[in-house]
Amino acid sequence: MSRAHGSKLISRHLKKEPTDLEEMPVIEINTDLSEDVLNIANGVFSPLKGFLCYNDLDNVVKEKRLESDTPWTIPILLDYDSKVANEGDTVLLVNKENGVRALLDVEDIYTYDKKTLSQEIYQTQDENHPGVANVNNMKQYIIGGKISLIDSKEREFDNYNLSPKETRFLFKEKGWKEIVAFQTRNPPHIGHEYVQKTALTFVDGIFINPIIGKKKVGDFRDEVILSSYETLMKYYYLKERAVMSILRTSMKYAGPREAIHHAIMRKNFGCTHFIVGRDHAGVGNYYGPYDAHDIFSEFPDLGIIPVFFRSFSRCTKCGSVVNDKICPHDQKYHINFSGTKIREILKNGDVPSEDIMRKEVAETILKYDKPFVE
Ligand code: ADX
Repeated sequence: MSRAHGSKLISRHLKKEPTDLEEMPVIEINTDLSEDVLNIANGVFSPLKGFLCYNDLDNVVKEKRLESDTPWTIPILLDYDSKVANEGDTVLLVNKENGVRALLDVEDIYTYDKKTLSQEIYQTQDENHPGVANVNNMKQYIIGGKISLIDSKEREFDNYNLSPKETRFLFKEKGWKEIVAFQTRNPPHIGHEYVQKTALTFVDGIFINPIIGKKKVGDFRDEVILSSYETLMKYYYLKERAVMSILRTSMKYAGPREAIHHAIMRKNFGCTHFIVGRDHAGVGNYYGPYDAHDIFSEFPDLGIIPVFFRSFSRCTKCGSVVNDKICPHDQKYHINFSGTKIREILKNGDVPSEDIMRKEVAETILKYDKPFVE
């Protein structure tokens, strides 16, 4: 199993509710930010103990590392619009939807140039990029400081929501030493399954870890992703070799930088290996198909081993799933596992060919009236 990123698994839970809550300034945070609070508290974002202060943010933007030199590529920021607090204050963060209440020790209140942020994190300033649109919508100020979670409420899919402490316990119980993690935001097609099983061949177990949370219009809805994986695992995976747990965080669509962030979170869950395939966490044509492979060479000290895959497709001549490292045949014999194409077929209520998606998985998706985010 991997050690936590930065060596110590962070836990930021208050044991007792403070008595002076009523006197504290209150900041209402949106659901995305409340997920960040939970991920910090549960150690998914270890070594972060809170939202980034200016120096850490600037270092993350320019060097892809925290000030301590620990690799970190995606800024975890708390933005707000009016100065309700000052540096040195403790404020109460609340989110009604998730019932999150947390304390924030305000260490730093600052602003940051949005153009620089977009350019460095997303490699573009194009507003059509969902990450850039988020940056442009950020409020004027950013607050940095450590958080401590008071409480949060139970939610749908909680039975699938394991914390790093729990996954580490589970992996130990199973006797797994080498664990490969698979990030996804889609129901599985044959290419996904092939990538997972190829990687699994070399390790003890696979940790399938779909992202549940805010996505863009046209992406599959959370329950569709989960139930399609339940189906796939029931019919095509060994129980003692595969576990699924969700990760509640928003997709950033930051391609290579997000691949590093995804790997760090899975390291915190205890995984030793992380799958990176074609156009990982990409959107549109903003990144090259293998940029998310290349970026790993900047992080020899990451502490989790990336497992790279070239794009898989089905070759009608080979009669099997192939990629450009193993198949000598012309492209015209290749059927791609295109997410866009699969979505189109499903939108029309049709079952895709079994060459690209398991029949049972397609049927599970088609049981939903509205499988996509609208
Ligand atoms: S992602 O945004 O989470 O990366 P997706 O759920 O489609 O999107 O992909 C999950 C993982 O599978 C990523 O590492 C991605 O690169 C990989 N992947 C998806 N399709 C293929 C394919 N045809 N060949 C190789 N890897 C793939």
